[in-house]
Amino acid sequence: MKHCILVTGGAGFIGSNFVLDWLAQSQQSVINLDKLSYAGNLQNLASLQGDARHVFVHGDIGDSDLVAKLLSTHQPRAVVNFAAESHVDRSIHGPEAFVQNNIVGTFRLLEAVRSYWQTMDVEGRAAFRFLHVSTDEVYGSLAPDEPAFTEQHPFEPNSPYSASKAASDHLVRAWHHTYGLPVLTTNCSNNYGPLHFPEKLIPLVIVNALALKPLPVYGDGQQIRDWLYVKDHCSAIRRVLQAGRVGETYNIGGWNEQANLSIVRTICELLDRMAPRADGKPYQEQITFVTDRPGHDRRYAIDARKVEQELGWKPQETFESGIAKTVQWYLDNQDWVAHVQSGAYRDWVHTQYGAAIAQGQAGAA
Ligand code: NAD
Ligand code: TYD
Repeated sequence: MKHCILVTGGAGFIGSNFVLDWLAQSQQSVINLDKLSYAGNLQNLASLQGDARHVFVHGDIGDSDLVAKLLSTHQPRAVVNFAAESHVDRSIHGPEAFVQNNIVGTFRLLEAVRSYWQTMDVEGRAAFRFLHVSTDEVYGSLAPDEPAFTEQHPFEPNSPYSASKAASDHLVRAWHHTYGLPVLTTNCSNNYGPLHFPEKLIPLVIVNALALKPLPVYGDGQQIRDWLYVKDHCSAIRRVLQAGRVGETYNIGGWNEQANLSIVRTICELLDRMAPRADGKPYQEQITFVTDRPGHDRRYAIDARKVEQELGWKPQETFESGIAKTVQWYLDNQDWVAHVQSGAYRDWVHTQYGAAIAQGQAGAA
C-alpha cells in the first residue's frame, strides 16, 4: 500500500481520534495495529467500516514476527506509536503489564522497525519517521512556583506508568543515536474529549454524574493538570510528523492548568445546564473526597513554546469550548458508554473505589 502509515494503539482513546482525523484529511492509508486490551475498542472506528484506506490488524507491538510481516507487506513511510498501558491507577495495582507493553513492547517494535528501515533505499530511509507518543508525566511533579516543563527538564517519573513511558522514551532516543533511526518524540499533557475511556477523571465524572453516582476526588482535589483537547493533540502529532526535526522531542500542551476539583465543578455546572437532574439538585452534591492516590504527582504544566515557534502549531480549542463539546459528546453517545462499561469495567471500578462508589447513589457516600 503506497504511502501508508502504521499506527499502533489506534483503537484506544487518542489513537482512534488520530486515525479518524488522519483519514478525514489525508489520502494516505492507515494500517492500525492494536491488541484490543480493555482500553481498545473497535466501536471507536465504526465510521470507517468499508473504508479501504483503513486496515485494522488485531495484534501486539511485541509480536516481532507480526510487525515485521506488516512492515514488509505494507511498506509504511512512518510509524506512529500510541500503543501503551495508559492509566496511572492501574499501574499502581499491576505494574507488570506496563513494563511488558510499554517497555518491552516499544523495544520489540523499535527492533522490527529498525530491520525494516535498513532494507529501504536511501531516499526511503531519509524520509521515514518513527513518531513515539509520550507524556508529560515522565518529567515528574512541579512545585506551585516552578516553571512549566520544557524539553530540557530532567526525567523524574514517579509512578509505574510514568517510569515505563520514560523508559520507552529513552529507548526511542537511543535507537536514533545508536542506529540512526529517524525518530520524533512528543510529550503531551492530559488529553480529554470524545472516546475517552471512563476510568480517567473527566469521562469518569461525566458518566458517574449522569448515573447519579459519587464523583470521586482524590485527596484535597488541588492537584493540577494541564488539559488539552484530544483533537489538538492529534493536529500536533500530524504537524510534528510532517515537519519535526529528526531526533527531537516536542512538548505538547494547552497552557491550561487546572486543579482537579475545579475540573469536576465545571463539569457539574455544564451538566446542570445541559442535562439537569430530575430532582433539580446540583450535580456538585455528588462530589465525594476519597483516599489520595499513592505517590500522587501534585502538578504538571507544559511549556509548548518549541512546537509553537518551530512548527507553528497552536491548539484550536479553549478549555471552555473543548469541555462543552466533550460533555455534549457523552450525552449524545450513551450507547458507547454502555458498551464500554462491561463486566471488566465494573470489576475495575470496584477494585479502585470499593463497593460504596461502585454501586453508590447520589448522596449515599
Ligand atoms: P488508551 O489506554 O486509551 O489506548 C491504548 C491503546 O493501545 C488501546 O487500544 C490498547 O488496546 C492498545 N495497546 C496497549 N498495549 C498494546 C500492545 N502491546 N500492542 C498493541 N496495542 C496495544 O491510551 P490513550 O489515552 O489513547 O494514550 C495513547 C498514548 O498516548 C499512550 O502511549 C499514552 O502514554 C500517551 N499519552 C496519553 C495521554 C492522555 O492524557 N491520555 C497524554 C499524553 C500521552
Ligand atoms: P487521570 O485522568 O487518571 O490522569 P493522570 O493521572 O494521568 O493525570 O487523573 C487526572 C487527575 O485526576 C489526577 O490528579 C488524579 C485525579 N483523579 C481523581 O481525583 N479522581 C478519580 O477518580 C480519577 C480517575 C483521577
